[in-house]
Amino acid sequence: MMKTSCFSKLFLCNVFIGVILTLGSGPAWAAPPGSPWGADYFPNIPLVTQDGKTVRFYDDLIKDKVIAINFIYTHCGDTCPLETASLRQVQKLLGDRVGKDVFFYSISIDPKHDTPKALKEYAAKFNVGPGWTFLTGTKADTTLLRKKLGLYREEAEAKKLGEHNVSFMIGNEATGQWMKRSPFDEPKVLAWLLGRKLHNFKVATSEQQVSYAAAKQLPKISLGEDLFRSRCDSCHSLGTEDGLGPGLQGVAKRRERAWLTRWLKMPDRMLTEKDPIATDLFNRYKKLPMPNLRLTDADVEALIKYMESPMH
Ligand code: HEC
Repeated sequence: MMKTSCFSKLFLCNVFIGVILTLGSGPAWAAPPGSPWGADYFPNIPLVTQDGKTVRFYDDLIKDKVIAINFIYTHCGDTCPLETASLRQVQKLLGDRVGKDVFFYSISIDPKHDTPKALKEYAAKFNVGPGWTFLTGTKADTTLLRKKLGLYREEAEAKKLGEHNVSFMIGNEATGQWMKRSPFDEPKVLAWLLGRKLHNFKVATSEQQVSYAAAKQLPKISLGEDLFRSRCDSCHSLGTEDGLGPGLQGVAKRRERAWLTRWLKMPDRMLTEKDPIATDLFNRYKKLPMPNLRLTDADVEALIKYMESPMH
C-alpha cells in the first residue's frame, strides 16, 4: 500500500550493513556507530513551535536525539486524530522520559490554517504533556522534510490534502536507526521501541528481568476486540471513566442501534448535520471531533458486538 521511499530503502540497507559490521563484536541488533543521515541529509529548516519560538529542524529538534515525528493538520477528521491519540498513549507510557531522552514532534502540513495558536489549542484538546512539540513551517520546507523522511506520497497528495501519509517515523539520529510505524500500532510496542530499542537497550527497566519464555500465550481475540484495541482504545475506555472521548460502558444499550451504527460509520457527517446527540457530546468533549475511521459495515458490526459483550 505504502510506496517504499528511497529513505526506507536506505534504512534497510543500513540495517543490513549494521548487522554485518556488528557480527562477532556484539549482538546483531546493535546499531552501527554512526549515521549516514546526519546534518548533510536532513534539512535544517526553520519551524515555529506552538509557543511561537523559531527552532531549526536538525540542530534543535533531532540532532543526537531519540524522536517520534508525525505530520498532522488540525482540522483532519480521520486518521490523524487517532495517530495523535495513540502517540499520547505512548507518551503516557514513557512518562517523564518524554522531553528528557525521547522527543515527540507533530509538524503541520497545512501552515495556512495551522498557526502556532491553532496548534496550541489542538495540543490542549489531546492533553499532550511536556516534551511533545507541535510545529509549523512553510509548505515548501515541510514538504521537503516529508520527502526526506519517506513520508510523502506524491499522487495522493495532489488529489486531496486528507490523503496525506498517516504513518510516522521514529528514530535515533545519532545511530541512524529509523523505523516507519503506523497509527494502528500498539502503544506499548511503540513505547518499547522508543524507550528501549532505539536506546540500544541501555536504559534499565524492570522488564529486563522478565523472560519471554515464561510469557503466557495470548488468547485469540475477536475482530471486534482487535479493532477496538487498534482504533478506539487510545480515546475510549470500556468502563465509565472518560478518555479523550466518553467511557463506553453500556453504550450499546444507551444508544439506539441505528444511531450507533451510523455514528461509527460517519461521525463527521453526523456532526456536520448537527445531530443533537452528536453535537451535545462534541460540546462536552472539548470539541474534539470523533474521527471517521473508514470502518466497513462488518467492522462496525464486530465493534458493536464487542462493546455489547459482558466479557471485558
Ligand atoms: C481521537 C479520539 C477518538 C477515537 C480514535 C475514537 N473516538 Fe469515539 N469519540 C471521541 C469523542 C471526542 C467523542 C465525543 C463526540 C465528539 O466529540 O465528536 C466520541 C464518541 C463516541 C461514541 C458515542 C458515545 C456516547 O456516549 O454515545 C461512541 C459509541 C464512540 N465514540 C465509539 C468509538 C469507537 C468504537 C471507536 C473506534 C472504532 C472510536 N470511538 C474512536 C473520540 C474518539
